[in-house]
Amino acid sequence: MELSCDEMYLRYHGLLLPRETHSDESLEFAQEFKFEDDDVMAVTYPKSGTIWMQEILPLVLNGGDLTPIHTIPNWDRVPWLEEKRLALVVDKLASPRALVTHFPYNLMPPSFYTAKAKVIYVMRNPKDIMVSSYYFHQMAGFLEDPGTFDEFMDKFLEGEVLCGKWTDHMKSWRNSALGDRIMYITYEEMVQDLPASLRRISDFLGRNLTEEVIQKIAEHCSFKAMKTNNMSNFSLIPNVYMDSDKSPFLRKGTVGDWKNHFSSEQLARFISVISKELEGESFSLPWSL
Ligand code: A3P
Repeated sequence: MELSCDEMYLRYHGLLLPRETHSDESLEFAQEFKFEDDDVMAVTYPKSGTIWMQEILPLVLNGGDLTPIHTIPNWDRVPWLEEKRLALVVDKLASPRALVTHFPYNLMPPSFYTAKAKVIYVMRNPKDIMVSSYYFHQMAGFLEDPGTFDEFMDKFLEGEVLCGKWTDHMKSWRNSALGDRIMYITYEEMVQDLPASLRRISDFLGRNLTEEVIQKIAEHCSFKAMKTNNMSNFSLIPNVYMDSDKSPFLRKGTVGDWKNHFSSEQLARFISVISKELEGESFSLPWSL
């Protein structure tokens, strides 16, 4: 039987969060979480490259040792701040700890604002995010069926999808004034030149990695390598929660798939809504809409 929206999602400060992975307790746990100065946070709007960072961060932080990515599932290796699993694994996290979150800046816990924990904010062209999210809503049993692509576009633009509006997320983190605590990177630059992106990330995190280690990390964080890594491709999750026959989580891993999905009318509608919502912002987008 199909679950209703309320049965499927919690609404937290306006954000839709799946009950399967989130609870009142997990959100309270997140708010009480005590950040350490050497923690590292990857922040993403869903479908921007979260699990990619769950692969990259442990390798960059530990000098390329493959053990964590081959022995610990991504959701426990670099857990989500807001999800239920964090309470179960927090004491097992190696230091320096790496976490991910889909929270907007204003929902971060009080200890985050005073700690020196570094943040890597991964941005992706919202048109490709929407396409990726459309397939994710089809394959994830804990998310509402997306309906047609056109119906899903309305929901995406209204923020009636996992984690709310993309524009709100961007605005909150781009205006966060975290100074040198935050680094911005795009999914597109990671696709274009992963070794160069890894050099930027390792410099930001104060790691002095040799070129040999950078190349090794790039090889293990490629789309192809992650697709066959059972600790990263969600094959450990039963089909009822994630049905890779409908669409694999590691789906295409490319830039510009929106061109295969958007009609010219949809493109115009998308651009009009997004540009209106970003009007007057002082930051510029790294891609044209
Ligand atoms: P696609 O659906 O466009 O393929 P998230 O982890 O935030 O949910 O993002 C998922 C998206 O990141 C998916 O996009 C997935 O394929 C892509 N992705 C994950 N790892 C990747 C990698 N190593 N290289 C390129 N894309 C990757």
